[in-house]
Amino acid sequence: MKTRKLHNLSVSEVGMGCMAFSHGYGQIPSEQYSIEAIRNGYDHGCTFFDTAEVYSPGLSGIGHNELIVGKALKDVRENVVIATKLMLHGFSFGSAYQTIRKHLEASMKRLQTDHVDLYYLHRMGGVPVEKVAEAMGRLIDEGLIGGWGLSQVDVDIIDRAQKVTPLTAIQNIYSMVERDSEAAIIPYCMAHDIGFVPFSPIASGLLSGRITPQTQFESYDDVRNWVPQLKKANIKGNQPIVDLLKQYAEMKQATPAQISLAWMLHKYPNVVPIPGSKNKERIVENLNASNVALTDGEFNALEASLNQCRVFGHRGLVGF
Ligand SMILES: NC(=O)c1ccc[n+]([C@@H]2O[C@H](COP(=O)([O-])OP(=O)(O)OC[C@H]3O[C@@H](n4cnc5c(N)ncnc54)[C@H](OP(=O)(O)O)[C@@H]3O)[C@@H](O)[C@H]2O)c1
Repeated sequence: MKTRKLHNLSVSEVGMGCMAFSHGYGQIPSEQYSIEAIRNGYDHGCTFFDTAEVYSPGLSGIGHNELIVGKALKDVRENVVIATKLMLHGFSFGSAYQTIRKHLEASMKRLQTDHVDLYYLHRMGGVPVEKVAEAMGRLIDEGLIGGWGLSQVDVDIIDRAQKVTPLTAIQNIYSMVERDSEAAIIPYCMAHDIGFVPFSPIASGLLSGRITPQTQFESYDDVRNWVPQLKKANIKGNQPIVDLLKQYAEMKQATPAQISLAWMLHKYPNVVPIPGSKNKERIVENLNASNVALTDGEFNALEASLNQCRVFGHRGLVGF
């Protein structure tokens, strides 16, 4: 697969979001299946894997997902970039550095590694970003992390952090139906050589075209019950966007999910999406979006049509 740079890190241009093996999309697969699915992604060229300390069933424990990612990648550790995230509610172990280091050491143990390539603060959680940036800089100097990032943040926070320790990547929600980051955040990242990693890039499945108003989501630990674009009325309202993707998919002999990823890859050189799936075949389908090249003409026509569509439902940068 083609590669891209997230600041100093070289990664496959499509990564793998591993969250659903532990949390967020209903029933989780067996550990064996999850490990095989991650390794199969690697075998198909993926070198960028996203996890977080909080990804556990029902968000009720710590580290379920990191343990799986660690087991799946331990044999190929030197060939891959592992990104994980910590959640802070104050600096509970003294200083920012001491607190972040405690979280990092626990994550490294679960991931079976002596360093994390990309370490994100998962949510701001009321902590001063300058203190976090300073601590992350020290961890970079110590070789414990390869770079650092912030998730679900606005441009003011990014700028304050960047002035203390240059950022490697920002991970925000971004897809054809969640475009808030286009106004200021992605341009800021491009101007400062910061990677941009879209989460939920296929809008929790909406942009695959495989969800209808009749689709039943699961009752336990399934975010699709509250994703606004997936309310029954909004699935109907967003049908023109799905139809547009289907039209391009047919033209390019691709799938709607692949077109939605190819669209953002064409649009920005610093973007590396991390689609999530707990299904081996769909993981490979998403990785293969890297082979779907839109011409400038195709992209411009797609973008113009997309801009004519109203989006029903909005998650935005806050509120979840
Ligand atoms: N930083 C943050 O706060 C944050 C928040 C959320 C997520 N994330 C990260 O971002 C990653 C991706 O986000 P996400 O999983 O929420 O959203 P997503 O990638 O937009 O969508 C995942 C959903 O789409 C379905 N899907 C994926 N590919 C498909 C395909 N080709 N055809 C049909 N359906 C498809 C999946 O179902 P199947 O599993 O059945 O294929 C799943 O229900 C996560 O794994 C996680 O690592 C980060």
